[in-house]
Amino acid sequence: MKVIAYRNYGPPEVLKLEEREIPTPKKNEIRIKIYNTAVNSGDWRIRKADPKLAKLYFGIFKPKQPILGISIAGVVDSLGKDVTKFKIGDKVFGSTGMRLGAYAEYTCIPESSVILRLPEEISFSEGACLSFGGLTALDFIQKCNLQKNQTFIVYGASSSVGTAAIQLAKHFGAIVTAVCSQKNFDLVKSLGADFVMDYETFLSESHNKKYDVVFECVGKSSITSNLLHRSEGGVLVLVGASFKEMFQAAWISLTKGINIKFGPIAETLENLNILTELTRKGIYKVVIDKFFPLEAMAEAHRYVEAGHKKGNVAINIDND
Ligand SMILES: NC(=O)c1ccc[n+]([C@@H]2O[C@H](COP(=O)([O-])OP(=O)(O)OC[C@H]3O[C@@H](n4cnc5c(N)ncnc54)[C@H](OP(=O)(O)O)[C@@H]3O)[C@@H](O)[C@H]2O)c1
Repeated sequence: MKVIAYRNYGPPEVLKLEEREIPTPKKNEIRIKIYNTAVNSGDWRIRKADPKLAKLYFGIFKPKQPILGISIAGVVDSLGKDVTKFKIGDKVFGSTGMRLGAYAEYTCIPESSVILRLPEEISFSEGACLSFGGLTALDFIQKCNLQKNQTFIVYGASSSVGTAAIQLAKHFGAIVTAVCSQKNFDLVKSLGADFVMDYETFLSESHNKKYDVVFECVGKSSITSNLLHRSEGGVLVLVGASFKEMFQAAWISLTKGINIKFGPIAETLENLNILTELTRKGIYKVVIDKFFPLEAMAEAHRYVEAGHKKGNVAINIDND
């Protein structure tokens, strides 16, 4: 099978096409013939070990798992002897979790993974792009205990997490302001944003409005500027906080009693189910900016790392 592997941390060029044996599933695993994966913001960070501390988990001298990729959609083509939940031919999608391995024609994962059957209404590419931003936005919105008619501002609204957050916050009844570049105003309005604002306006002194939830998706604005827009008793969410910002946020929470949410999310089957139902019913839309073939993985990484994708970037491995 074809895979895209990286043997050393570094720039997009470390991603190389390799030939591998097709893996055999262990007794509790399903093997998936992968039709689509996605390149997420986490992928390029792992590839270049950003931050360097990531090497403690992913391999100190070189990557322990040379095949990146967490998002997956495809067809089950082989079963371990103890598998009961899936059968050969099932269309499935979801996340491989920290096992990664989705930049390949096949992968084996436990049947207990955050994987579901793909409904007819959802394409393979949508399935592959559903979990990363969607599960992240949903987990943080749940942690905010968002209520109907609360005001919700999302900074970095055109990102994968941002495009999901707009739609989910609207679904839960919030009044949503999307902060993004003017070029993306139409996109965020089409996803349901009630108000739009560009970055400069958000950061300007003239913007003194306060919100029940300030949802910072892209780690590009300071904690101080975000706190200025949090209403009394409101929540600040820092989806893309750096280690330094996490310490800062923990300190502010502790000393000032401000509700700040940050840290890694828990990917759950329950939340993937919620997203799937919303997508199936047409309430939630997976935004896909571009498609690249598996062989153009380095180019896809370059595009995603540049930081201006709208929603998600899908990789075609087989026909969609
Ligand atoms: N906590 C967790 O468990 C968790 C899970 C997943 C992701 N994350 C983090 O969440 C963050 C977002 O991930 P993502 O994949 O959704 O990002 P992404 O899609 O790669 O973000 C791209 C978007 O960011 C916007 N952007 C770039 N510079 C900006 C700026 N200065 N101000 C506002 N927006 C700007 C771009 O819009 P323009 O083109 O207009 O600049 C673009 O649409 C990342 O930091 C990621 O590490 C955390």
